[in-house]
Amino acid sequence: MQDRQSLINKINSLKKERNAVILAHCYARGEVQDIADFVGDSLGLSQEAVDQDAEVIVFCGVSFMAESAFILSPEKTVLIPDADADCPMAAMVDVASLRELKAQHPDAMVVCYVNTRADIKAESDICCTSANAVEVVNSLDSDKVIFVPDKNLAAYVAKHTDKTIIPWNGYCPTHNQILAEDVDLAMNEHPGAEIMAHPECRSEVLEKVDHVFSTTGMIGHVKSSNNNEFIISTEQGILHQLETENPNKKFYPVSKFTFCPDMKMIDLSSVLRCLENMETVVTVPKDIQVRAKRTLDRMLEVKR
Ligand code: 13P
Ligand code: SF4
Repeated sequence: MQDRQSLINKINSLKKERNAVILAHCYARGEVQDIADFVGDSLGLSQEAVDQDAEVIVFCGVSFMAESAFILSPEKTVLIPDADADCPMAAMVDVASLRELKAQHPDAMVVCYVNTRADIKAESDICCTSANAVEVVNSLDSDKVIFVPDKNLAAYVAKHTDKTIIPWNGYCPTHNQILAEDVDLAMNEHPGAEIMAHPECRSEVLEKVDHVFSTTGMIGHVKSSNNNEFIISTEQGILHQLETENPNKKFYPVSKFTFCPDMKMIDLSSVLRCLENMETVVTVPKDIQVRAKRTLDRMLEVKR
Protein backbone atom coordinates (compact mmCIF):
# COMPACT_ATOMS: atom_id res chain seq x y z
CA MET A 1 0.00 0.00 0.00
CA GLN A 2 1.61 3.26 -1.12
CA ASP A 3 1.19 6.38 0.97
CA ARG A 4 -0.97 9.17 -0.43
CA GLN A 5 1.83 11.63 -1.15
CA SER A 6 3.89 9.06 -3.05
CA LEU A 7 0.80 8.19 -5.18
CA ILE A 8 0.28 11.89 -5.92
CA ASN A 9 3.96 12.38 -6.85
CA LYS A 10 3.89 9.43 -9.23
CA ILE A 11 0.61 10.59 -10.82
CA ASN A 12 2.05 14.08 -11.38
CA SER A 13 5.25 12.85 -12.95
CA LEU A 14 3.47 10.34 -15.24
CA LYS A 15 0.98 13.03 -16.22
CA LYS A 16 3.85 15.14 -17.58
CA GLU A 17 5.51 12.17 -19.27
CA ARG A 18 2.26 11.20 -21.05
CA ASN A 19 1.18 14.79 -21.84
CA ALA A 20 -2.03 14.03 -19.97
CA VAL A 21 -4.66 16.13 -18.25
CA ILE A 22 -6.89 14.87 -15.43
CA LEU A 23 -10.57 15.88 -15.47
CA ALA A 24 -12.78 15.06 -12.48
CA HIS A 25 -16.54 15.38 -12.03
CA CYS A 26 -17.60 17.25 -8.90
CA TYR A 27 -19.19 14.01 -7.57
CA ALA A 28 -15.80 12.23 -7.64
CA ARG A 29 -13.92 11.40 -4.43
CA GLY A 30 -12.31 14.45 -2.78
CA GLU A 31 -8.81 12.96 -3.16
CA VAL A 32 -9.40 12.67 -6.93
CA GLN A 33 -10.84 16.20 -7.23
CA ASP A 34 -7.70 17.47 -5.44
CA ILE A 35 -5.27 16.06 -8.03
CA ALA A 36 -7.42 17.01 -11.05
CA ASP A 37 -6.49 19.80 -13.45
CA PHE A 38 -10.20 20.62 -13.85
CA VAL A 39 -13.25 19.82 -11.74
CA GLY A 40 -16.69 20.46 -13.17
CA ASP A 41 -19.98 19.10 -14.47
CA SER A 42 -20.25 16.59 -17.29
CA LEU A 43 -20.73 19.16 -20.04
CA GLY A 44 -18.09 21.57 -18.76
CA LEU A 45 -15.57 18.75 -18.59
CA SER A 46 -16.28 17.58 -22.14
CA GLN A 47 -15.78 21.13 -23.36
CA GLU A 48 -12.58 21.27 -21.34
CA ALA A 49 -11.46 18.07 -23.07
CA VAL A 50 -11.92 19.80 -26.44
CA ASP A 51 -10.03 22.93 -25.36
CA GLN A 52 -7.03 21.06 -23.95
CA ASP A 53 -3.77 20.68 -25.89
CA ALA A 54 -2.94 17.50 -23.97
CA GLU A 55 -2.83 14.27 -26.00
CA VAL A 56 -4.30 12.17 -23.20
CA ILE A 57 -7.44 12.84 -21.15
CA VAL A 58 -7.86 10.89 -17.90
CA PHE A 59 -11.59 11.18 -17.19
CA CYS A 60 -12.49 10.63 -13.53
CA GLY A 61 -16.24 10.23 -13.75
CA VAL A 62 -18.54 7.61 -15.24
CA SER A 63 -18.32 6.09 -18.70
CA PHE A 64 -20.88 8.30 -20.51
CA MET A 65 -18.80 11.37 -19.56
CA ALA A 66 -15.58 9.84 -20.92
CA GLU A 67 -17.49 8.80 -24.05
CA SER A 68 -18.73 12.38 -24.53
CA ALA A 69 -15.14 13.62 -24.25
CA PHE A 70 -14.08 11.12 -26.93
CA ILE A 71 -17.06 11.94 -29.18
CA LEU A 72 -16.14 15.64 -29.09
CA SER A 73 -12.35 15.06 -29.36
CA PRO A 74 -11.81 11.76 -31.18
CA GLU A 75 -8.21 12.64 -31.99
CA LYS A 76 -7.30 12.43 -28.28
CA THR A 77 -6.69 9.33 -26.19
CA VAL A 78 -9.43 9.26 -23.55
CA LEU A 79 -8.84 6.98 -20.56
CA ILE A 80 -11.13 6.05 -17.68
CA PRO A 81 -9.34 4.73 -14.56
CA ASP A 82 -12.13 2.24 -13.76
CA ALA A 83 -14.13 0.89 -16.71
CA ASP A 84 -16.85 -0.39 -14.34
CA ALA A 85 -17.80 3.15 -13.35
CA ASP A 86 -21.08 3.45 -15.22
CA CYS A 87 -24.26 5.48 -14.71
CA PRO A 88 -27.24 3.21 -13.99
CA MET A 89 -29.61 5.81 -15.44
CA ALA A 90 -27.70 5.84 -18.75
CA ALA A 91 -28.34 2.07 -18.95
CA MET A 92 -32.12 2.54 -18.61
CA VAL A 93 -32.71 3.33 -22.28
CA ASP A 94 -31.79 1.18 -25.29
CA VAL A 95 -31.86 1.95 -29.00
CA ALA A 96 -34.55 -0.58 -30.00
CA SER A 97 -37.05 0.72 -27.41
CA LEU A 98 -36.28 4.34 -28.27
CA ARG A 99 -36.89 3.57 -31.97
CA GLU A 100 -40.29 2.08 -31.06
CA LEU A 101 -41.25 5.25 -29.19
CA LYS A 102 -40.04 7.40 -32.09
CA ALA A 103 -42.20 5.35 -34.46
CA GLN A 104 -45.23 6.03 -32.22
CA HIS A 105 -44.52 9.79 -32.32
CA PRO A 106 -43.07 10.53 -35.77
CA ASP A 107 -43.73 14.27 -35.33
CA ALA A 108 -41.68 14.52 -32.10
CA MET A 109 -38.04 15.53 -31.79
CA VAL A 110 -35.79 13.56 -29.43
CA VAL A 111 -33.83 15.25 -26.66
CA CYS A 112 -31.38 13.05 -24.79
CA TYR A 113 -29.91 13.97 -21.44
CA VAL A 114 -26.11 13.90 -21.48
CA ASN A 115 -26.38 10.93 -19.08
CA THR A 116 -26.87 8.53 -22.00
CA ARG A 117 -24.69 6.12 -23.92
CA ALA A 118 -23.22 7.13 -27.28
CA ASP A 119 -25.68 5.02 -29.31
CA ILE A 120 -28.64 6.86 -27.73
CA LYS A 121 -27.00 10.22 -28.47
CA ALA A 122 -26.56 9.06 -32.08
CA GLU A 123 -30.29 8.26 -32.20
CA SER A 124 -31.37 11.67 -30.82
CA ASP A 125 -31.82 15.11 -32.38
CA ILE A 126 -30.12 17.11 -29.65
CA CYS A 127 -28.51 16.56 -26.26
CA CYS A 128 -29.00 18.56 -23.04
CA THR A 129 -27.59 18.76 -19.54
CA SER A 130 -29.31 19.69 -16.30
CA ALA A 131 -27.88 23.19 -16.80
CA ASN A 132 -29.57 23.84 -20.15
CA ALA A 133 -32.46 21.33 -20.51
CA VAL A 134 -35.24 23.96 -20.62
CA GLU A 135 -33.36 26.19 -23.12
CA VAL A 136 -32.60 23.20 -25.35
CA VAL A 137 -36.24 22.04 -25.42
CA ASN A 138 -37.51 25.59 -26.05
CA SER A 139 -35.02 26.01 -28.90
CA LEU A 140 -36.65 23.23 -30.95
CA ASP A 141 -39.05 23.75 -33.88
CA SER A 142 -41.27 20.84 -32.87
CA ASP A 143 -44.08 21.22 -30.27
CA LYS A 144 -43.68 17.60 -29.23
CA VAL A 145 -40.51 16.31 -27.57
CA ILE A 146 -39.45 12.81 -26.53
CA PHE A 147 -37.16 13.28 -23.52
CA VAL A 148 -34.85 10.43 -22.44
CA PRO A 149 -34.01 8.91 -20.01
CA ASP A 150 -34.69 10.89 -16.80
CA LYS A 151 -38.40 11.12 -15.89
CA ASN A 152 -37.69 13.65 -13.12
CA LEU A 153 -35.74 16.03 -15.33
CA ALA A 154 -38.47 15.54 -17.97
CA ALA A 155 -41.14 16.55 -15.43
CA TYR A 156 -39.09 19.61 -14.44
CA VAL A 157 -38.74 20.64 -18.10
CA ALA A 158 -42.46 20.03 -18.74
CA LYS A 159 -43.26 22.59 -16.01
CA HIS A 160 -41.08 25.20 -17.71
CA THR A 161 -42.12 24.82 -21.34
CA ASP A 162 -45.33 25.02 -23.40
CA LYS A 163 -44.23 22.01 -25.45
CA THR A 164 -45.62 18.50 -24.92
CA ILE A 165 -43.00 16.33 -23.26
CA ILE A 166 -43.10 12.56 -23.75
CA PRO A 167 -40.92 11.21 -20.94
CA TRP A 168 -38.96 7.99 -20.63
CA ASN A 169 -39.19 6.06 -17.38
CA GLY A 170 -35.55 6.30 -16.28
CA TYR A 171 -34.23 7.88 -13.12
CA CYS A 172 -31.05 8.40 -11.15
CA PRO A 173 -31.15 5.99 -8.17
CA THR A 174 -29.13 8.45 -6.06
CA HIS A 175 -31.40 11.45 -6.63
CA ASN A 176 -34.68 9.57 -6.90
CA GLN A 177 -34.38 8.10 -3.39
CA ILE A 178 -34.36 11.60 -1.85
CA LEU A 179 -37.88 12.11 -0.45
CA ALA A 180 -39.92 15.16 0.53
CA GLU A 181 -39.61 13.96 4.17
CA ASP A 182 -35.80 14.19 3.90
CA VAL A 183 -36.18 17.83 2.89
CA ASP A 184 -38.57 18.52 5.80
CA LEU A 185 -36.20 16.91 8.31
CA ALA A 186 -33.15 18.78 7.00
CA MET A 187 -35.04 22.10 7.00
CA ASN A 188 -36.16 21.54 10.62
CA GLU A 189 -32.59 20.75 11.62
CA HIS A 190 -31.10 23.79 9.82
CA PRO A 191 -33.86 26.41 9.75
CA GLY A 192 -31.58 29.24 8.55
CA ALA A 193 -30.15 27.33 5.61
CA GLU A 194 -30.96 27.91 1.94
CA ILE A 195 -31.89 24.66 0.22
CA MET A 196 -30.91 23.72 -3.33
CA ALA A 197 -31.81 20.61 -5.31
CA HIS A 198 -30.69 19.05 -8.59
CA PRO A 199 -33.49 18.59 -11.17
CA GLU A 200 -32.85 14.81 -11.17
CA CYS A 201 -34.77 14.86 -7.83
CA ARG A 202 -38.49 14.00 -7.65
CA SER A 203 -40.91 16.85 -8.32
CA GLU A 204 -42.27 16.71 -4.75
CA VAL A 205 -38.70 17.44 -3.56
CA LEU A 206 -38.20 20.26 -6.08
CA GLU A 207 -41.45 21.89 -4.94
CA LYS A 208 -40.08 22.29 -1.41
CA VAL A 209 -36.67 23.79 -2.11
CA ASP A 210 -35.51 27.40 -2.55
CA HIS A 211 -33.61 26.78 -5.80
CA VAL A 212 -33.33 24.11 -8.49
CA PHE A 213 -29.82 24.11 -9.94
CA SER A 214 -27.44 21.91 -11.89
CA THR A 215 -24.18 21.14 -10.09
CA THR A 216 -22.41 24.15 -11.63
CA GLY A 217 -25.47 26.26 -10.86
CA MET A 218 -25.17 25.35 -7.17
CA ILE A 219 -21.47 26.15 -7.08
CA GLY A 220 -22.07 29.54 -8.71
CA HIS A 221 -25.03 30.41 -6.49
CA VAL A 222 -23.20 29.63 -3.23
CA LYS A 223 -20.36 32.00 -4.20
CA SER A 224 -22.76 34.89 -4.79
CA SER A 225 -25.25 34.24 -1.95
CA ASN A 226 -25.10 36.25 1.29
CA ASN A 227 -26.36 33.21 3.17
CA ASN A 228 -23.86 31.15 5.18
CA GLU A 229 -25.64 27.81 5.40
CA PHE A 230 -26.90 25.52 2.64
CA ILE A 231 -28.74 22.20 2.46
CA ILE A 232 -27.63 20.33 -0.64
CA SER A 233 -29.98 17.91 -2.37
CA THR A 234 -27.64 16.22 -4.82
CA GLU A 235 -24.75 13.73 -4.73
CA GLN A 236 -22.65 14.65 -1.72
CA GLY A 237 -19.30 14.66 -3.59
CA ILE A 238 -20.13 18.26 -4.51
CA LEU A 239 -19.64 19.26 -0.86
CA HIS A 240 -15.88 18.84 -1.32
CA GLN A 241 -15.69 21.64 -3.87
CA LEU A 242 -18.25 23.79 -2.05
CA GLU A 243 -16.32 23.53 1.24
CA THR A 244 -12.93 24.09 -0.41
CA GLU A 245 -14.12 27.21 -2.25
CA ASN A 246 -16.20 28.60 0.65
CA PRO A 247 -14.36 27.82 3.90
CA ASN A 248 -16.57 30.15 5.95
CA LYS A 249 -19.88 28.66 4.80
CA LYS A 250 -21.59 25.50 6.05
CA PHE A 251 -23.05 22.73 3.88
CA TYR A 252 -25.38 19.90 4.90
CA PRO A 253 -26.32 16.95 2.66
CA VAL A 254 -30.13 16.62 2.58
CA SER A 255 -29.72 13.03 3.80
CA LYS A 256 -26.84 10.68 4.47
CA PHE A 257 -27.81 8.47 1.50
CA THR A 258 -27.00 10.94 -1.29
CA PHE A 259 -24.13 8.83 -2.49
CA CYS A 260 -23.49 7.49 -6.03
CA PRO A 261 -21.39 4.29 -5.80
CA ASP A 262 -20.27 4.55 -9.45
CA MET A 263 -18.95 8.08 -9.03
CA LYS A 264 -16.80 6.85 -6.14
CA MET A 265 -15.15 3.89 -7.91
CA ILE A 266 -12.13 5.89 -9.06
CA ASP A 267 -9.46 6.56 -6.44
CA LEU A 268 -5.81 7.67 -6.47
CA SER A 269 -4.55 4.09 -7.00
CA SER A 270 -6.73 3.56 -10.07
CA VAL A 271 -5.68 6.94 -11.51
CA LEU A 272 -2.04 5.91 -11.13
CA ARG A 273 -2.64 2.46 -12.69
CA CYS A 274 -4.49 4.12 -15.55
CA LEU A 275 -1.52 6.39 -16.35
CA GLU A 276 1.02 3.57 -15.92
CA ASN A 277 -0.79 1.13 -18.20
CA MET A 278 -2.61 3.65 -20.43
CA GLU A 279 -5.92 1.93 -19.85
CA THR A 280 -8.87 1.70 -20.08
CA VAL A 281 -9.10 3.45 -23.45
CA VAL A 282 -12.60 4.80 -24.24
CA THR A 283 -13.68 4.75 -27.88
CA VAL A 284 -16.92 4.75 -29.84
CA PRO A 285 -17.45 3.22 -33.33
CA LYS A 286 -16.90 5.87 -36.03
CA ASP A 287 -20.49 5.98 -37.39
CA ILE A 288 -21.92 6.41 -33.86
CA GLN A 289 -19.25 8.97 -32.94
CA VAL A 290 -20.13 11.14 -35.95
CA ARG A 291 -23.90 11.05 -35.31
CA ALA A 292 -23.51 11.52 -31.55
CA LYS A 293 -21.18 14.49 -32.13
CA ARG A 294 -23.89 16.18 -34.21
CA THR A 295 -26.27 15.79 -31.26
CA LEU A 296 -23.73 17.24 -28.81
CA ASP A 297 -22.69 20.03 -31.21
CA ARG A 298 -26.34 21.11 -31.64
CA MET A 299 -26.57 21.46 -27.88
CA LEU A 300 -23.36 23.48 -27.70
CA GLU A 301 -24.88 25.93 -30.17
CA VAL A 302 -27.76 26.63 -27.74
CA LYS A 303 -27.02 29.07 -24.91
CA ARG A 304 -26.10 27.12 -21.78
P1 13P B 1 -24.16 17.28 -14.23
O1 13P B 1 -24.66 18.36 -13.34
O2 13P B 1 -22.71 17.14 -14.28
O3 13P B 1 -24.75 17.30 -15.59
O4 13P B 1 -24.49 15.89 -13.60
C1 13P B 1 -25.42 15.34 -12.88
C2 13P B 1 -25.10 13.93 -12.74
O5 13P B 1 -25.84 13.24 -12.14
C3 13P B 1 -23.87 13.41 -13.29
O6 13P B 1 -23.85 12.09 -13.08
FE1 SF4 C 1 -25.83 8.42 -12.80
FE2 SF4 C 1 -27.06 9.48 -10.72
FE3 SF4 C 1 -24.63 8.50 -10.41
FE4 SF4 C 1 -25.02 10.75 -11.82
S1 SF4 C 1 -25.40 10.47 -9.65
S2 SF4 C 1 -23.72 9.01 -12.37
S3 SF4 C 1 -27.00 10.31 -12.75
S4 SF4 C 1 -26.48 7.34 -10.97
